[in-house]
Amino acid sequence: MAQLPDNVKEALTGGQNVWVATIGEDGWPNVAIKGSGALLDEEHIFFADLFSKKTRDNLLYNSRVAVGIFDPEKRIAVQVKGVADMIKSGDLFDRVKQQIADLQRDLPDPKYVVRIEIQSVWDMTAGPNAGEQIA
Ligand SMILES: Cc1cc2nc3c(=O)[nH]c(=O)nc-3n(C[C@H](O)[C@H](O)[C@H](O)COP(=O)(O)O)c2cc1C
Repeated sequence: MAQLPDNVKEALTGGQNVWVATIGEDGWPNVAIKGSGALLDEEHIFFADLFSKKTRDNLLYNSRVAVGIFDPEKRIAVQVKGVADMIKSGDLFDRVKQQIADLQRDLPDPKYVVRIEIQSVWDMTAGPNAGEQIA
């Protein structure tokens, strides 16, 4: 397991657009943006599955996932590789469901909360450390 740098944790505290890449049964990669990307704890991030199609199918087939996190103002660009757990009940699920309802944006209830155990973190900046493993 690995941990995120502190500045990335801060960027994810209030929710963030993240790019979620998964692998299909047919071998094709798939990418989708998730506005509900957030920090769960030292070793996990999560997003709410509200509209997933290929993302959900792929994660139910292969739990390996890569997540791109980019915040130009905070000068953050990292890729997290991890393993997803598809959660459909319990405290975390109920909490995320309530947070989404509280937004009052007519969003559906989540089908799953996708909890990602962070396995490694990679530098995605355009600079001398590009592509290097951070954690
Ligand atoms: C700005 C933005 C934020 C989004 N946030 C979410 C989200 O938090 N959860 C979700 O399930 N889908 C979200 N979507 C929809 C997904 O990007 C995508 O349309 C959906 O996963 C279906 O694509 P797929 O078949 O590749 O999974 C968002 C779309 C946009 C444009």
